[in-house]
Amino acid sequence: MTALGNPSADSGAAWWRGAAIFQVYIRSFADGNGDGIGDLAGVRSRLPYLRDLGINAIWFTPWYPSPMDDGGYDVADFRDIEPAFGTLAEAEALIGEAHALGIRVIIDIVPNHCSDLHRWFKAALAAGPGSPERDRFWFRPGQGEDGSEPPNDWQSRFGGPAWTRVTEPDGTPGEWFLHLYSSRQPDFNWDNPEIRAEFEDILKFWFDRGVDGFRIDVADGLVKDPALPNLADSGTISPFSDQDGLHDIYRSWRKIADSYPGERSLVAEMWLDDMSRAARYLRKDELHSAFNFDFLVCPWDEAKFRTVIENTVAAHAEVGAPAAWVLSNHDVTRPVTRYGRAGDTGFAFADRLHGTPVDRELGTRRSRAAALLAMSLPGGLYIYQGEELGLWEIEDIPDDLRQDPVFARTKGADPGRDGCRVPIPWSGTESPFGFSPDGAEGEPWLPQPESWVDYTAEAEGNDPASMLSLYRSGLALRASESALGDGKLEWHEHLDGVLSFTRDPGFACLVNFSAEPVPLPDHEKVLLASAELKDGLLPPDTAVWLRTR
Ligand code: GLC
Ligand code: CA
Repeated sequence: MTALGNPSADSGAAWWRGAAIFQVYIRSFADGNGDGIGDLAGVRSRLPYLRDLGINAIWFTPWYPSPMDDGGYDVADFRDIEPAFGTLAEAEALIGEAHALGIRVIIDIVPNHCSDLHRWFKAALAAGPGSPERDRFWFRPGQGEDGSEPPNDWQSRFGGPAWTRVTEPDGTPGEWFLHLYSSRQPDFNWDNPEIRAEFEDILKFWFDRGVDGFRIDVADGLVKDPALPNLADSGTISPFSDQDGLHDIYRSWRKIADSYPGERSLVAEMWLDDMSRAARYLRKDELHSAFNFDFLVCPWDEAKFRTVIENTVAAHAEVGAPAAWVLSNHDVTRPVTRYGRAGDTGFAFADRLHGTPVDRELGTRRSRAAALLAMSLPGGLYIYQGEELGLWEIEDIPDDLRQDPVFARTKGADPGRDGCRVPIPWSGTESPFGFSPDGAEGEPWLPQPESWVDYTAEAEGNDPASMLSLYRSGLALRASESALGDGKLEWHEHLDGVLSFTRDPGFACLVNFSAEPVPLPDHEKVLLASAELKDGLLPPDTAVWLRTR
């Protein structure tokens, strides 16, 4: 077994190049103390499940103290644990227990902004205009005679203006501060050296506690054009995304990561249109990898998938970095629902298409095929909790229970992301389906549908035809086949509408996007298929893995 082809947590070098990484959204994963909110005790009790699933690492979404305006992406203290989730001592124990099972730990870092309850933002409000405290953020006077218009035309990514006006300590209406997300998430000013020093120290704080890496939230957004020009006047270069100054920040982060023993890894969240621009962050002295969102948003179409995969492989080859394939996360509509919608639907961040008819059976079939495709492409792989159970988007959450700020900020035009964050069903026949312990006082923080009775980890674990069984088999093969994980692929022209590639040694993957069953190429053995082959033919919307020699 080579370390590169067969990433496992205890195979040292460059594990991150081909790892299968499981995303835990803590609030919704498992509730240890019965208050209806997932927590670290819950995660610790489910580590054996993750080991058996066959993943190499866990990425935890933010676990820091937070008022939870944006599910923890509004951080009040970067060096502690949210009390509803547990304690720092529990986090340290969890890191140790994961390592003992051969599972690495990646945590989320949120450097673009903090919570309005962060001590620095409170100090900035109290200190008033022109103070060094305000210079850690983007405070500006408003436009118009009385300053009642925002400083520029930037819009929040959650809807509405990206600026909110404050009341000064003397009670008068005052300056505005910038927030690319909710008004409770003020953006840091990365031109201020104190911010840079602070985050370098935060990285060390957690590396010292044994974490194996960071997922960098909004990695493209930290640096702003200091002139804060109107977007309307900015031409093709965004004044708040992909600014050149970012590369220096990540070079210094890379030095910190490299100064620790073992391979510590940095993965970027960035939604950039131009894959070559994104790859520039993956040069060898910058970040290790970045999520491939083009793959996630690709509609169900053979030519489109092939183009995305080709572009990805080519852009990453320019800088020698591995791709990181993603089918879902806590921000997007679940794949079963996406792939179950007719036509060439939009899959964008905000384009959630609630209420569009969903053929869940078709969506499930395609999600199974997509899973085998993603698992067999060269590079790393991310799996979002519940994806391995084939959960779908919950679209009928009552409005008064919705918690994502996107819903309120768009006045309901965008339903938000709660539908992919419903607490996981583990066992039993009714809510909370083992999410909370028996006899728990609290209800799950978002309601679970009754129909999940057939989709609990327990029910699926006993069913060889389930999504969970497919993920377990796929991940086990991915670990044992030396062809899979990091490496190269070679395309084959098979038949129209069939995506077909091989990987050395001796492995082929085919996905049938056409409407007809197709014959298989020469092979020695079928390793795994996402649906039953009929008369040796590969049915529509099905993927197969073959041993070719
Ligand atoms: C990222 C996160 C998302 C969060 C946003 C602001 O896109 O994935 O959940 O709302 O950043 O931090
Ligand atoms: Ca709890």
